[in-house]
Amino acid sequence: MTSTLSISPLDWTPAVSKVEASAAALPWSEMNLRSCFEADYQNFGIWSQDARELYAFILVHQPLADEWTIMNIAVAPQAQRQGYAEALVRHVLAKAARQPAKVFLEVRSSNNAARKLYQKVGFQEIGLRKNYYPTLSDTKEDAIVMLWHKPTEI
Ligand SMILES: CC(C)(COP(=O)(O)OP(=O)(O)OC[C@H]1O[C@@H](n2cnc3c(N)ncnc32)[C@H](O)[C@@H]1OP(=O)(O)O)[C@@H](O)C(=O)NCCC(=O)NCCS
Repeated sequence: MTSTLSISPLDWTPAVSKVEASAAALPWSEMNLRSCFEADYQNFGIWSQDARELYAFILVHQPLADEWTIMNIAVAPQAQRQGYAEALVRHVLAKAARQPAKVFLEVRSSNNAARKLYQKVGFQEIGLRKNYYPTLSDTKEDAIVMLWHKPTEI
């Protein structure tokens, strides 16, 4: 499946909100998502073959040439477990390796799917932000901070 995927640069479209709302338990607001389509971001998407439906997106903040952050990634439920997220993250990491740039991200401690994805592609857990995220039950949840860098940089 992954070999036939077509990843393209992504400009703002309401379809981003639609994917986010369908995939995330606590979705980002449209305002927050839109703010990731300003300068210093490089974003990518995977569309259906007829380009009518956005299946997945990844939003990457690049405030410094050598320090990037994956701000968000989401895959529509009907498109999950088909390698789309992995393909998007690997696409970004290939670019980061060429730059070269380190890539950071934060993920909810309870988000096992995302943590497994990031571990699979080579991210390492480097820190914890206690009580960082709101939850559906009005409590707070820790963020795991993860880092990827080119293996040869060690
Ligand atoms: C997390 C998410 C992006 C994964 O997208 P996906 O396209 O289904 O993931 P992939 O098919 O590319 O899976 C790649 C790897 O991720 C891990 N993974 C993905 N979904 C998983 C799940 N439900 N349970 C366990 N591991 C999972 C596995 O290691 C998988 O590799 P494998 O297929 O060899 O087991 C998707 O579940 C999603 O959109 N979740 C809601 C939004 C979210 O949590 N975003 C992360 C913000 S930090």
